[in-house]
Amino acid sequence: MQKQVSNFHLQVLETEEEVGKAAADFVAAQVRQKPESVLLLPTGRTPLDMYRNLVEMVKSGNLDLHYVHTFNLDEFCGLSSDHPGSYAQYMREALFDHVAIPEDHTHILNCATPDPKAEAALYDAAMHALGGVDLAVLGIGVNGHIGFNEPGSSFSSGTRVVPIREETREANAFLFDGIIDEVPKEAMTVGIATIMESRQILLLATGESKADVVYGMIYGPVTPELPASILQKHPDVTVILDREAASKLPQVK
Ligand code: PGA
Repeated sequence: MQKQVSNFHLQVLETEEEVGKAAADFVAAQVRQKPESVLLLPTGRTPLDMYRNLVEMVKSGNLDLHYVHTFNLDEFCGLSSDHPGSYAQYMREALFDHVAIPEDHTHILNCATPDPKAEAALYDAAMHALGGVDLAVLGIGVNGHIGFNEPGSSFSSGTRVVPIREETREANAFLFDGIIDEVPKEAMTVGIATIMESRQILLLATGESKADVVYGMIYGPVTPELPASILQKHPDVTVILDREAASKLPQVK
């Protein structure tokens, strides 16, 4: 059931599997309504079930992703795009290898360029040329980050190279056989201003480790110290949580 909590459309489900299914249904509804949708997409543990469900929908003939354009939120610096820990590889394994999206419709930031500023400008220009982002799907870091916009990031930030905080490197160690030292210290990320320009935002969070930042995002002050709190200022944000991630919300208790 969906509730309205301040500006957020909030949906709380029992399990992370249900969150993944609901997220896939949400994305599918957007794509059915506008087949050439421009999607800004997340990586990390949280959206894995969403991608699994999207792949199933496509394979069973219930969804066509042929016309969508995808942009990923972020990518590590210092890894080749075929490195097993890269988000490019994550996206191939989670989605692109299993569904028919033309390769030139998929965009992932490339940090291994002599001119990251030009790369960032081109990425933002490509989104704009397609009419802007229709739907941004976001996870949230344990420190409240969105994309790799760590605490302290300016709300007016555009796409750029950023340092990755220790807690975020720890959260990404699962992509590097659990070895934190192998997680890069820098990434390229779409900026907060770019995320806020998306017409619609879907944020997913699961597990108890996200309960405090989910509370802060919805009820706390809007502050760069909790980057996701800026979403209080967006006109169309849906938040889908499992019971654990919602456990600090007063309406849910
Ligand atoms: P996670 O990451 O899904 O691996 O928890 C979320 C995020 O950092 O956005």
